Amino acid sequence: LFPESIPMTITSTHNAKLSQIRKLNGRRRERERAGLFVAEGEDLLAAADAAGWAARERYVVTGSGLEGTEVDAPLLAAVSALGSGTRALAVYEERWLAAPAGPLCVYLHGLQDPGNVGTILRSAEAFGAACVALGPGCADPFGPKAVRASMGAVFTVPLVHAPALDALPAPTIALVPGEGPALHELWQPSDDPIAREPAATLLIGAEREGLPEELAAQADHRAHIVIDNHSLNAAMAATVALYELTRMAPR
Ligand SMILES: C[S@@+](CC[C@H](N)C(=O)[O-])C[C@H]1O[C@@H](n2cnc3c(N)ncnc32)[C@H](O)[C@@H]1O
Repeated sequence: LFPESIPMTITSTHNAKLSQIRKLNGRRRERERAGLFVAEGEDLLAAADAAGWAARERYVVTGSGLEGTEVDAPLLAAVSALGSGTRALAVYEERWLAAPAGPLCVYLHGLQDPGNVGTILRSAEAFGAACVALGPGCADPFGPKAVRASMGAVFTVPLVHAPALDALPAPTIALVPGEGPALHELWQPSDDPIAREPAATLLIGAEREGLPEELAAQADHRAHIVIDNHSLNAAMAATVALYELTRMAPR
C-alpha cells in the first residue's frame, strides 16, 4: 500500500547503505563476504566509468552537482576512508579472473602494504601487463589504500588469486636482489629465454623476507635488477623490472 520511498538526500547517520560503506572500507572480510568494494573521489569514479565498470551505488555530497544519491557532507565524510572526506564515492563488485592471463604477468608474494599493491597495479597498467596475481599474505587490492594507490588501475588490470607457480604465464622469473644474472641479460643476445614479445611472470617478494627460497627455486629463472645498494622497495622493483622487460628488450 505504501511503497518504500527512496529519499533524494540521505540525512540520517543510521542509514543502512552508509553503514555498509563504512564496513566495506574498514574490513577486508566484509569486502570478501559481499564481493564489493568502495572507490572514492571523482578521479577514481571517472576511471571506473572510462573502464566500463558500472557502480552498484554512487553517493555524492549534497549540492555538489555530481551524479549520484546525495548525502549530507558530514555523513559522507564519516564513512569515507580519506582523512579529508570525499565529494563522491561508489560501490563496485570485485572482479577476479578465473585463471592468470599472459603474456606478461606480475606475481606478488607476501606484499602486506596496500600502497605497494596499488602502486604495482598502476605500473602493471603503465607497462601493459595482462594481470597481477596475488599470492599468500598480500594486502587486499580492493582495500581503500590499494584502490587509491592504483589511481584507477584496479579497474583496468585484471586480478587473479595466484594458483600454483606452473599455472602462471611462462617463463617465471624470480626477482631476487643480487642473485642470478641481471634481468636485462636474460634476453641477450641470441638464445634468449624470454620471447621478443615480453612474455613472462615476474615474481616479487615481501619487503622484509623477499621471496621464499623454495618458490624462487621453482621459477624458470632467477634475476636481479642492477642497483648500487642491496634492494629496492617491492613496488619500485616491479616497476623497474616491467620497464626493463617491456622497453629495453630487443624487438
Ligand atoms: C625490499 S625487497 C626484499 C628484500 C629482502 N631483504 C631480500 O633480500 O630479498 C622486496 C622485493 O623486491 C624485489 N627486489 C627489490 N630489489 C631488487 C633487486 N635489486 N633485484 C631484484 N629484485 C628486487 C624482490 O622481488 C624482493 O623480494
